[in-house]
Amino acid sequence: MQVVVLNGVNLDVLARRDAALYGGMSLSELETRIYDWASVLGCHVRCRQTNHEGEFVDWCHDALDWADGVIVNPGAWTHYSYAIRDALELFDAPIVEVHLSNIEEREEWRRTSVVADLAAKRILGQGAEGYREALEFIVGEVGAAQ
Ligand code: DQA
Repeated sequence: MQVVVLNGVNLDVLARRDAALYGGMSLSELETRIYDWASVLGCHVRCRQTNHEGEFVDWCHDALDWADGVIVNPGAWTHYSYAIRDALELFDAPIVEVHLSNIEEREEWRRTSVVADLAAKRILGQGAEGYREALEFIVGEVGAAQ
C-alpha cells in the first residue's frame, strides 16, 4: 500500500510557527514520525512539501498513478485554492484532510475549506497525531477494499 502525504505552503517552517497552534516540531521531525508510523502499519509513504501551488498540483497528478491513499494538509491553500481542489478531485483513492490546528475554532476565514467535501475523513487540531490517525484510517479503508 502506497500513501502520499502532501504538505502545503509554510509547513516547511513549522518549527518557527506558533508552537501553541502547531506543536513546535520541525517538518523533518513530523515526516520522521510519519515514516515511523507507516512502517509500523506496514505501508509505504512518500512525504512532500512545497510552497509552490503548481508544484503541489504536479505532485497530485504524479500520485494519481500510484497512490492508494492521500493525506493532505494544504496549509492556507485549504481556504481558497480551487486549483488544488480540482487536482484532488481527480483521485479515486481516499483522501484525508489533516490540519495540525483546529481550523474550525480559529479565525472565521479559516473555517472555509474548499477541499473538505472531497475528504473521506477530516482530522483537525490533533497536531502530529492527526497524521497517524489519517494513516490508520487509510490502511483500514484500503485494506478492507482489497
Ligand atoms: C494549517 C491551518 C491553516 O489555516 C494554516 O494556514 C496553515 C496550517 C494547520 O495545519 O493547522 O498553514 O493547515
